[in-house]
Amino acid sequence: MPISRAARRSLFPTSPGAPVSASADRHETTGRRHGIGSQTVTVRELGVEDAAPYRAFRLEALRATPTAFTSSYEEESAKPLSTTIARLAAAGRPDGAVVGAYDGGRLIGIAGLSVPPRRQERHKATLFGMAVAPHAAGRGIGKLLVHRILEIAASVEGLTQVGLTVSEGNLPAERLYRSCGFEVWGREPRAVVIGGRPIAKLHMIRMLDRPDPPGSPPPGFRASENSRDPSISLRSDASLIGIPGVDL
Ligand SMILES: CC(C)(COP(=O)(O)OP(=O)(O)OC[C@H]1O[C@@H](n2cnc3c(N)ncnc32)[C@H](O)[C@@H]1OP(=O)(O)O)[C@@H](O)C(=O)NCCC(=O)NCCS
Repeated sequence: MPISRAARRSLFPTSPGAPVSASADRHETTGRRHGIGSQTVTVRELGVEDAAPYRAFRLEALRATPTAFTSSYEEESAKPLSTTIARLAAAGRPDGAVVGAYDGGRLIGIAGLSVPPRRQERHKATLFGMAVAPHAAGRGIGKLLVHRILEIAASVEGLTQVGLTVSEGNLPAERLYRSCGFEVWGREPRAVVIGGRPIAKLHMIRMLDRPDPPGSPPPGFRASENSRDPSISLRSDASLIGIPGVDL
């Protein structure tokens, strides 16, 4: 079910936006990265009710930047919405999460955390499905999402590290991850072949027992507790999923 051109436009408008002041569901993070105006962004965990916008956003990211991801737009767009609903469903999949950044009612960024089901590797999770809408890029949304994922990871008992892969040459993503404390530990040549072109993937890891706590806000942001603020989206029934080996 490919997404329509109109839906694409509404997801990824071309007009540049302002820097953000952002609020996450467990703490509020405020920042003016470039000092010109402000917006409020909410980061919250997504549930099955978010399946349609999440699917549309993810498909557009796959279509727009195919070399950044392991999944392809062609394969994923052929899957029904029920596949996305299953991905977001909480039942039987503890500890993982998919989070979304909202600017008002509009989804502008996504990221996921997957915790493997096998006991002997439940100490390591995977960050997957990271994407920010182009009009919102470069204003700290990616960093907010990664920090939220690390915060969730830190709350999972026994989890000591979060890994991810990034296509070699995807410098915005590599820089984002490095700025959040991830380090490269390996390189897989020809990890994916896209349009006949082999692309290597860098494997990165972030230990959760580093001195700077993963829940701390991104540098340049000021955090304040606001868990009782009714204006912030709170989900007591956090949708927790675990998807071994998933990638966007
Ligand atoms: C990669 C991506 C998620 C970054 O999101 P973002 O919201 O623009 O990132 P942020 O504004 O939070 O920036 C975080 C860091 O990355 C750096 N960065 C972001 N975009 C950059 C760019 N185009 N060039 C260089 N550095 C960049 C920022 O400078 C910042 O580093 P700093 O704290 O050292 O200054 C976004 O560009 C995107 O969705 N890309 C397409 C999909 C993709 O590549 N997903 C990742 C798959 S592994």
